[in-house]
Amino acid sequence: MDPLEPVVTPSQTPAEPLRVAAESSSALEELATLDREPDVEAWRVRWLGRRSQLALALRGLGRLPASERAAAGRALNQAKKELTEGCRNRLAELREQATRRLGALDVSLPGRPLPRGGLHPITLTERAVVAAFAAMGFHVIEGPEVELDYYNFEALRIPADHPARDAMDTFWLAPPEGADARRSRPLLLRTHTSPNQIRFMEANDPPIRLIAPGRTYRNEATDATHEWMITQTEVLAVDRGLTLAHLKGTLYEFARRLFGEDREIRFRCDYFPFVEPGVEVSVSSPGGWIEILGAGMVHPEILARMGYDPEAYTGFAAGLGVERIAMLRHGIRDIRRFYENDLRFLRQF
Ligand code: PHE
Repeated sequence: MDPLEPVVTPSQTPAEPLRVAAESSSALEELATLDREPDVEAWRVRWLGRRSQLALALRGLGRLPASERAAAGRALNQAKKELTEGCRNRLAELREQATRRLGALDVSLPGRPLPRGGLHPITLTERAVVAAFAAMGFHVIEGPEVELDYYNFEALRIPADHPARDAMDTFWLAPPEGADARRSRPLLLRTHTSPNQIRFMEANDPPIRLIAPGRTYRNEATDATHEWMITQTEVLAVDRGLTLAHLKGTLYEFARRLFGEDREIRFRCDYFPFVEPGVEVSVSSPGGWIEILGAGMVHPEILARMGYDPEAYTGFAAGLGVERIAMLRHGIRDIRRFYENDLRFLRQF
């Protein structure tokens, strides 16, 4: 009978310990082919664990005839020692290989490039606008996008029946849940950043030099130069002795910083109820003049209502259209590109 053939008897026969010991050499061959630590661990459980053939044979030694016990014991213990050492050595080898591989790993080698996010072109332009005014001593404030009729219109001299409201088609909001509709004050999405002028003047005294960037909303049809949501930046300065010359100087300096020395800019008269006089500023482009902002001297009636002495203080204000400015800087022809979320467009900035 082949000594390696399993012996199928309920109790151990004298031949079995020797067969088990003999099998250890094939176990060692198998061990040499394993190159993952978990596989080595599985191997250890199978060959050296409490339920392994070897453990069973060792436990059965006492049942062997005394004459065979010593030889069988020696063979089994020898096998156990070889397997245990083999296992320890293999693990050490694998760990050393892993360390060597790490040492040879060049983390600077170019792999597949990771997709990288970037700032939106409007964010970039808004930051450039803010930086230009910050360099001239203006500080940044922010106000709510959901605004009261009072700040967006009334306090800016645009009463309910004023035609200027027609130019700013408004997204009106339902009164908050549970509010008494007749007594709650009308809410809207701000149509411009000018409400920030009122909010700040109500709570502060001159001198004032602020800018207020943010989103504004108008319920109007979109086309290549109109969006229903645009980003504006409000500018407000109030102090003794400010004149239209200060406004022009400030806006020229702003344009020089954003568009360089060579771009032409144009001032023309315009009308806004909250300034007197009012102007609009356009910048030259290959396709003609593009209006980028409205501005003017703060209406004395507003200064007086804010508790400032309009004989002593004057102010200038401007509202810049950030999308239009970004279009001019990058030669973009259609304002709608900014909010289509087309990565082929956005990746260019
Ligand atoms: N708020 C005006 C608009 O959005 C622009 C503006 C701001 C005009 C400040 C004058 C002064 O059209």
